[in-house]
Amino acid sequence: MEAMKIVIVCTSVSHGNTRRVADAMADVLDAKVVTPEEADPAEPAGADLVGFGSGVFYGKLHHGLTDFVKTLPPCRGRAFVFATSGLPEIPPRPYTRALTRLLEGKGYEVDGAFSCRAFDTWAPFKIVGGINKHRPAAEDLTAARDFAERVLRAAATAPEH
Ligand SMILES: Cc1cc2nc3c(=O)[nH]c(=O)nc-3n(C[C@H](O)[C@H](O)[C@H](O)COP(=O)(O)O)c2cc1C
Repeated sequence: MEAMKIVIVCTSVSHGNTRRVADAMADVLDAKVVTPEEADPAEPAGADLVGFGSGVFYGKLHHGLTDFVKTLPPCRGRAFVFATSGLPEIPPRPYTRALTRLLEGKGYEVDGAFSCRAFDTWAPFKIVGGINKHRPAAEDLTAARDFAERVLRAAATAPEH
């Protein structure tokens, strides 16, 4: 079988937290990591599997990432989404949900979502020197790699979408 073409599009502007998660996933997936600014909208369309991730800002994924997804042509490929945030997610309202819906609207089959807590110096936490100072930690990156392995297995065994 030919190797799968896998791309990760990642916006990581605050502390590079999400980029560290993206790089851990890219190791497992043998994927290229690009920013939305670097990515050509044709690139995700030509890939077998695409990951999209960013930090959370005011309750949402970064607009640089979501604006990029809005420019993508309709696509029948597979995708996954991921996020890092200062605050824990409230289970019925994952941070990744809006982007998942957006991708599904484009025709993507979204295989799953990953999120973890990460260093956060947003204004209310700045005075205490930030929260989650050493995250993403080794356990977070291990969880990110495990997630990537599951997504890869699902993509490799799935029937043509
Ligand atoms: C201006 C600003 C707003 C933020 N808003 C939120 C938020 O609403 N909820 C949350 O959990 N974390 C929030 N954070 C924390 C970031 O999501 C967190 O630090 C994330 O890991 C940043 O990812 P990055 O380093 O990849 O950009 C905010 C951070 C900044 C700087």
